Amino acid sequence: MNADDMKKLAAKAALEYVDGGIIGVGTGSTVNHFIDYLATIKSKIDGAVSSSEVSTERMKSHGIPVMDLNAAGELELYVDGADESDHNLALIKGGGGALTREKIVAGASKKFVCIADGSKLVDILGRFPLPVEVIPMARSHVARQLVKLGGTPVWREDFITDNGNVILDVHNLEIMKPIEMEQRINNIAGVVTVGIFALRPADVLILGTEEGTKTITA
Ligand code: A5P
Repeated sequence: MNADDMKKLAAKAALEYVDGGIIGVGTGSTVNHFIDYLATIKSKIDGAVSSSEVSTERMKSHGIPVMDLNAAGELELYVDGADESDHNLALIKGGGGALTREKIVAGASKKFVCIADGSKLVDILGRFPLPVEVIPMARSHVARQLVKLGGTPVWREDFITDNGNVILDVHNLEIMKPIEMEQRINNIAGVVTVGIFALRPADVLILGTEEGTKTITA
């Protein structure tokens, strides 16, 4: 079984959490599978709030109504992938650059179900370079502050987020205290969003593995 098959397993298993209403939908290759499965039960839901233009297009192509978060109110469920998860379900996200909208929709949802292949579960966050979305004029300033925190920021060149900002991918961080690190990076002037999801972690992690799905609940 390859990684994509494992992503499919996790994505399909998340369907059992879908129980009508408007649901939040994340971004990435695992979520793409989830959207395709969601299309098969689309009459069960009123619609979806999307975390990116890419997911919006995919849902529209399946005839899933995409709604504005301001009109939707609090969501019962958010389904999204991750680049890494620790055992407390604190995450690194933003490999696809959609971290800001993902954090907003996760924060606006009662239950966050994270779907991933088994390789994403780690003991300590940080081997995956940490994405930080930054206002363009603050890029160098923020990079210097991230160096002071022990990281090696690399500008994701030729990439602009859905919000018109840039991404710094921070290498060489060992994130022992995810909540503290999230707060410290959030406090740097010019940072829009840091890709640590620890203040609002996932509630449920569904991993696709060779042996089937494995579910971890916070
Ligand atoms: C998008 O910005 C990310 O947060 C994704 O959720 C994350 O990169 C997981 O992507 P895959 O499902 O493609 O691994």
